[in-house]
Amino acid sequence: METTVKKLTLDEQENKGIIKMAATLIQEGSLVAFPTETVYGLGADALNPEASRKIYEAKGRPSDNPLIVHISRMEDLGKIARHIPPKAEKLAAAFWPGPLTMIFAKSGAVPLETTGGLQTVAVRMPSHPVALSFIREAGGFIAAPSANTSGRPSPTLAEHVAEDLDGRIPLILDGGPVGIGIESTIVDFSEEPPVVLRPGYITPAMMEAVIGPVKMDPGLGQEAFGVRPKAPGMKYRHYAPKAELILVEGGLPKVQEKISCLAREALGKGKRVGILGTEETRACYKEGIFKSIGTRQEEDTIARHLYGILREFDKLGVDIIYSESFGSPGLGQAVMNRLLKAAGHRVVEASEDRGIGG
Ligand code: TXA
Ligand code: MG
Repeated sequence: METTVKKLTLDEQENKGIIKMAATLIQEGSLVAFPTETVYGLGADALNPEASRKIYEAKGRPSDNPLIVHISRMEDLGKIARHIPPKAEKLAAAFWPGPLTMIFAKSGAVPLETTGGLQTVAVRMPSHPVALSFIREAGGFIAAPSANTSGRPSPTLAEHVAEDLDGRIPLILDGGPVGIGIESTIVDFSEEPPVVLRPGYITPAMMEAVIGPVKMDPGLGQEAFGVRPKAPGMKYRHYAPKAELILVEGGLPKVQEKISCLAREALGKGKRVGILGTEETRACYKEGIFKSIGTRQEEDTIARHLYGILREFDKLGVDIIYSESFGSPGLGQAVMNRLLKAAGHRVVEASEDRGIGG
């Protein structure tokens, strides 16, 4: 299959034509990759079981891993979800359109192929203008996982989508680089208080300011100890570069020393070594291929560049990547969640005495 890439332009009229073409493909049961504010999604008609099945096939995704249904209008939520609790309405009012996904009991309209066999459905209204008009034009309900091959880092550029899915899907809408760079926060409303199944840009503190207490899924970050996370997708190794990735935790000066030491050792064994650090630590590393993910002063930059940098290391053909770790309040929690998964939980402790900023 030939994959066409269509760049969205500043010309509204031209964009309309492209979005119309994308919507037609969806209505015919085909797949279209499109930009959202978090990562690129691989879209299909969420109410068409055959179309959902194509997503699993194109991504090589395990069929028990449910898809998020993307909507563009609040009034469409009631058509796919039953029992929408007042707290969910409050979160929708505060954060939709935006990087928040909520899980509800599903209505009969949503096929089990879309929900990975579950009786619940995950719903999100993205804020990206291209995503919103594409969803509306296509009929209102787009099932979309991240548009990467299963297990690979999520795409933050249309080029990343093409790297993974060229020849497997008919159309990629190129909206340029995404704004956030990591996937939406997922909150499950089938329990009270609601449970965060995947941390993201919308932090627990932001949600608690609107609806009071939320819980974290006890399975998060505990996979290494045999505890299963509740979101089926969170149990798989994910977001992973081709190289071995090792996270070094601890206070900053010690982390730099440890990474330099590990890098020297690996270089001595003839390995190609990548180092993932920040603007603050750029000057500290003398060996290996250094890449800065952003600045610790602005966590947003770290989230935005994470996946792109993992893919860049792949292109450079490094064998092993040593990465600094990031603090857990705020967005750092979501970044660490993704890095831990990408590393398959391979973590090295730099020292016992944890300094500030590590
Ligand atoms: O930001 C995002 O959410 C992006 C963009 C494209 O919107 N989408 C995304 O989809 O990250 P995906 O498929 O890569 O991740 C969806 C996650 C998986 O871990 C899946 O298991 C979980 O959501 N999930 C979906 N439906 C669920 C359900 N009914 N119950 C529990 N977990 C669910
Ligand atoms: Mg994904």
